[in-house]
Amino acid sequence: MKENISVVPLLFSKELGLSAKMLYGFFKMGKTRLFPKRNYHFNHFDNLALVYFKLTPACNLRCKMCGQYGDKGVMKDCAAEEIKKILPLETWKKFIDEIAPQHPVTYIWGGEPFLYPDLFPLVRYMVQKGLFVSVNTNGTMIEQHAEEIVRDKWSTIFVSLDAFRDVNDAMRGKGSYDRVIAGFKAINREKQKQKSNYPVLGVVTTVTNKNYMDLANLAEATREYNLDIHLFNLGTYTNSNIVATQRRFMREKFDTDIDCLEGYNTGYNLGIDGQKLHDILKNIHNRDYGHPMITVPVLNPEKTHTYYADLETPVRNHCIVPWCQSNINYNGDVHFCADYPDYILGNITRQSFKEIYNGDRANLFRKTIHACEGGMFPGCLRCYQNMLFGKKIKGY
Ligand SMILES: C[S@@+](CC[C@H](N)C(=O)[O-])C[C@H]1O[C@@H](n2cnc3c(N)ncnc32)[C@H](O)[C@@H]1O
Ligand code: SF4
Repeated sequence: MKENISVVPLLFSKELGLSAKMLYGFFKMGKTRLFPKRNYHFNHFDNLALVYFKLTPACNLRCKMCGQYGDKGVMKDCAAEEIKKILPLETWKKFIDEIAPQHPVTYIWGGEPFLYPDLFPLVRYMVQKGLFVSVNTNGTMIEQHAEEIVRDKWSTIFVSLDAFRDVNDAMRGKGSYDRVIAGFKAINREKQKQKSNYPVLGVVTTVTNKNYMDLANLAEATREYNLDIHLFNLGTYTNSNIVATQRRFMREKFDTDIDCLEGYNTGYNLGIDGQKLHDILKNIHNRDYGHPMITVPVLNPEKTHTYYADLETPVRNHCIVPWCQSNINYNGDVHFCADYPDYILGNITRQSFKEIYNGDRANLFRKTIHACEGGMFPGCLRCYQNMLFGKKIKGY
């Protein structure tokens, strides 16, 4: 399988401006890897390459493998209280004004971002500021907003679909597949009507033991919807031993308790036949569906089994996230780790982001992770950011 970076020029060849913005982000991340700044007085803010906006914890679905709302989801019992804490549009705009000069790639997610009341004015503002804005959504509310999405020139939409209709709906909820497809059709109609290439339209599929035999069906079924990319995410998983080790570690080093990792202790990794999954992905990659296919992480074929069956074996390490990325939570808390928002660096309603990103808590995190074996914590073993941006371990 090819390395994922190889699809970037192809992906954005229709829109060179987008390509340049995306490549600038990759360039900054590459620079971080090659020339890591271990000097803790360095202005890390200048290196900011990717910012995640977790706009809301609210969600209209209850996908079974989800770390927030799935079988072990950490939001299930507290969503109503947490939703009250979302930031107003003005706070997000102020934050955007601060980060825009660094030209980071931005990635909006949630919960379900379409449930953030001011999603449209927010994305419009970000696009006007020249940012690359990618939105990750469950796609159930795209249809009614297609005209606005195309008109406002959202850079990319990544829509989550896990399989063809019945298998998808068993994981993501009844009717979700058909609502997503209606959304694709509406976006395509609007692109034609408005003679626009925006947004780049992608599908993201999270691989579990429930859908892995159905991936080719999904690729075939979505062939006709003018997708620009299909991303297969091998998934975030953990087990009780890793959670316990990480809990001890975070208490000892940061005096912080952890809640979020347990959300990924779902067991949906169990029983996946690695050879079969590899063959399925290989066939998909070798077939021409009219758009590029990528898998995250790209694995040595023999190691696909290890990825699922032996969660304690690292496949990527030396996480670069604390040196070039950040996640901002719905309540303004700043974190490095998007999926595990336990260690809080600061809050953008009380301090400037630059102060937080270059501050003592951020530097303590950087120093601590750098000192760990392999440059990662015990809980980072299948973290999605590490799978995307970590260093490939020889043989994996
Ligand atoms: C948490 S959702 C938030 C955005 C939106 N609600 C959606 O479903 O696309 C972000 C992405 O994480 C994926 N996801 C859910 N559970 C996961 C898991 N256990 N491992 C990796 N990705 C997961 C979702 O399918 C989605 O593509
Ligand atoms: S739609 Fe997204 S946030 Fe909501 S339950 Fe599904 S994966 Fe989780």
